[in-house]
Amino acid sequence: MKHLLSLFDLSSEDVRDVLDFARRLKQETLAGERRPLCAGKILSQVFEKPSLRTRVSFEAAMSQLGGSGIFLTAKDAGFEGRETKEDIAKVLGGYSDVIVLRTFSQQLIETFRDHAGCSVINGLSDDYHPCQALADILTIEEHFPESEGRKVVYVGDGNNVARSLALICGHVGAQFAIAAPQGYWLTDDFLKKAKTKFPNLTIEQTDQPFEAVQNADIIYTDVWASMGQEQEKDQRAKTFAPFQVTKKLLDSANKDAKFMHCLPARRGLEVTDEVMSDPRSIVFPQAENRMHLAKGLFAWMLADV
Ligand code: CP
Ligand code: NVA
Repeated sequence: MKHLLSLFDLSSEDVRDVLDFARRLKQETLAGERRPLCAGKILSQVFEKPSLRTRVSFEAAMSQLGGSGIFLTAKDAGFEGRETKEDIAKVLGGYSDVIVLRTFSQQLIETFRDHAGCSVINGLSDDYHPCQALADILTIEEHFPESEGRKVVYVGDGNNVARSLALICGHVGAQFAIAAPQGYWLTDDFLKKAKTKFPNLTIEQTDQPFEAVQNADIIYTDVWASMGQEQEKDQRAKTFAPFQVTKKLLDSANKDAKFMHCLPARRGLEVTDEVMSDPRSIVFPQAENRMHLAKGLFAWMLADV
């Protein structure tokens, strides 16, 4: 049984297989063909945090593949103490072929993996956002088919999105750099684990965004205050102000560089309006690719192909 809790779970061959499925299914979808590879399958989603892209892209993906989706808030599922998490996992797993969870704690997703008896996917936790990073590399390779050796520069908080982006760079052999205020870098613990899985991965950390983006092929950012950090919003807005992605910063990267953001974007904070609508911005095709990637992931995980 296959699960996706973080990109540490997958081999680089697994990543290639998921991307191959996603690309093939995207081409077919755009040509008007929808193969029912998951006919009759049930996707259950339980989210502790809001979502537009993740929730809808997974449900749309499952519908296009011939299956059905069910959505529950954490409250409806009983996460607030109606019964134990293990019991919820066992019951929900009995109705589902795959469960997507959006949580604060990574450990809760591990509990589901251990008790649900069906496939489990991390649809974002405080630690990781693996499906985002898989869709990101799908998007990057549409512009730079040979992603190996390309330079991906993340400007912003060393958060769930940054960690998963670093790991996907490890899987495909891209270079990764992060520009963030000191104190918001990737932790030593994470770096050690990443280096153990990907001995050739280079991760540069700096508090100098203009130096970081030299020779960059991709400039990527995310919100400065993630879901659950709302009370730090004002303090972070001040600390991160020099790290806003502006046209000047984008102009300092390679000529054919692209701008990416997992979205939602706080225009005027981590990125300017001007950059969001710059021809180098690929944020909306990136968002659309969440659905194509979800289809690839379901095909890889669930379909008998
Ligand atoms: N990028 C992303 O995960 O968006 P949502 O929070 O809207 O799902
Ligand atoms: N880092 C952000 C990503 C949102 C998709 C958060 O966790 O809120």
